[in-house]
Amino acid sequence: MTVSTSKPLTPWSRHARQWAHVGSPLRPGSEDGEIFWDLVADDAKSAAAPRAVVLGVTPELALLPWPGGGQLTAVDQSQDMIDRVWPADQLPCSGRAICASWKDMPLDDASVDVALGDGSMSVLPSGRDYHAVIKEFHRVIKPGGQLILRCFVHPDEKEPVDNVFAALDRGEIGSMHALKWRIAMALQKSLDTGVVVSDIRDHFMKHVTNRKAAAKKLGWPIEAIDTIDAYENSPVSYTFPTMAEIAAAFTGKFKAARIVHPTYELGERCPVIGFKCLP
Ligand SMILES: C[S@@+](CC[C@H](N)C(=O)[O-])C[C@H]1O[C@@H](n2cnc3c(N)ncnc32)[C@H](O)[C@@H]1O
Repeated sequence: MTVSTSKPLTPWSRHARQWAHVGSPLRPGSEDGEIFWDLVADDAKSAAAPRAVVLGVTPELALLPWPGGGQLTAVDQSQDMIDRVWPADQLPCSGRAICASWKDMPLDDASVDVALGDGSMSVLPSGRDYHAVIKEFHRVIKPGGQLILRCFVHPDEKEPVDNVFAALDRGEIGSMHALKWRIAMALQKSLDTGVVVSDIRDHFMKHVTNRKAAAKKLGWPIEAIDTIDAYENSPVSYTFPTMAEIAAAFTGKFKAARIVHPTYELGERCPVIGFKCLP
């Protein structure tokens, strides 16, 4: 599809335009939805009017079976993502989407029962941004309330990027999206620097010179392979914390009550963590 526009697209605008071709593990599947819902506390599920926040516009979280009297608020800094991806007309309860940063949310103190985010920490450009965001989550979520995050977690032992491409050549990587995340994690030097997404594409392009042939050999849709182009020349960085870095970042404000790993490819790097908000 050719998109004509008068100004350059931001990475999230590009992402919004190719949303249909993004798949697991980048985008949550039904297993993730079930894990998220299982982690939502029974008192929020059975409350007459639970106040839930989605950190982003992830439809799979918005369309969980929220009680009809609930109030669902999405907070996302990209108006394009809100306009293109937030499922405003399918919500099971009343809802709104606010265009704002997670560092400064127009929400009252302790006004949220449960906040959910899919990959939200990883879209922060540096580990240095974690403190301000976690502080703001802590401000808006009530003490004893929940923060449930699917996190993209860097393995304790770094995987060399050459090993990733060797695994690709042996046919051991099941999807373009798993490949992108393995390259990304292999390239990250530290949580503070994160990984510049254009580097993910550059490494991919060096190794895969004929996309059509690769699509045929691997049995991957060419549209999924082409999602790599959303990273072209992009200065945006992603971050992939280790479990220890997550524990350090949240300590004192949130306590991890449950951690569930999904069963799909790379699920061991995509735990859903149910945090309890400390007073
Ligand atoms: C929740 S994350 C990840 C969603 C999904 N797993 C994926 O990979 O597409 C994506 C959303 O976060 C939003 N976002 C990134 N950084 C943000 C920030 N600091 N404040 C608010 N929204 C932010 C982006 O605009 C985007 O819509």
